[in-house]
Amino acid sequence: MYSKEVMEHFSNPRNIGVIEDADGIGKVGNFICGDIMWIYIKVGKNENREDIIEDIKFKTMGCAAAIATSSMATELAKGKTIVEALNMTKQDISDSLGGLPAVKLHCSLLATDALVEAIYDYLTKKGLPVPDDVSKKHERIKSELEKTEKICLNPKAQENSLKKD
Ligand code: FES
Repeated sequence: MYSKEVMEHFSNPRNIGVIEDADGIGKVGNFICGDIMWIYIKVGKNENREDIIEDIKFKTMGCAAAIATSSMATELAKGKTIVEALNMTKQDISDSLGGLPAVKLHCSLLATDALVEAIYDYLTKKGLPVPDDVSKKHERIKSELEKTEKICLNPKAQENSLKKD
């Protein structure tokens, strides 16, 4: 059962939309459910001259939990330094929403992965160093997105993947 916080963020999602001149864009997919999500970030500086998430928006073709967790993830990430944002976990998002049903926990991973991808995009575009763990996550996320797009854009592949389950 969904918490009242999940229902509230699903009914009234924060930070939905696109940032046209985004500094980083993250796109992710889940090949099991076929959901796809984008996160856009605008990066600024705090008083210590550290990079922070100044603005953030998301767009999702996903379930109610994907919408609620993206909404909460963007709320939590706003104002955080890049390092703090990279340390956010799906558990942080779920906890902030008063918990998620076990079968829906994976939905919150879409939001954290999309944030990692947006930050990866920002760092590489700026020629800044990319931490090893972020590069590894990027490789996993990229391959999951390719699989999702292949399955979702190719009905025959979808049929075959369902037969294998
Ligand atoms: S079922 Fe796909 S993200 Fe929720």
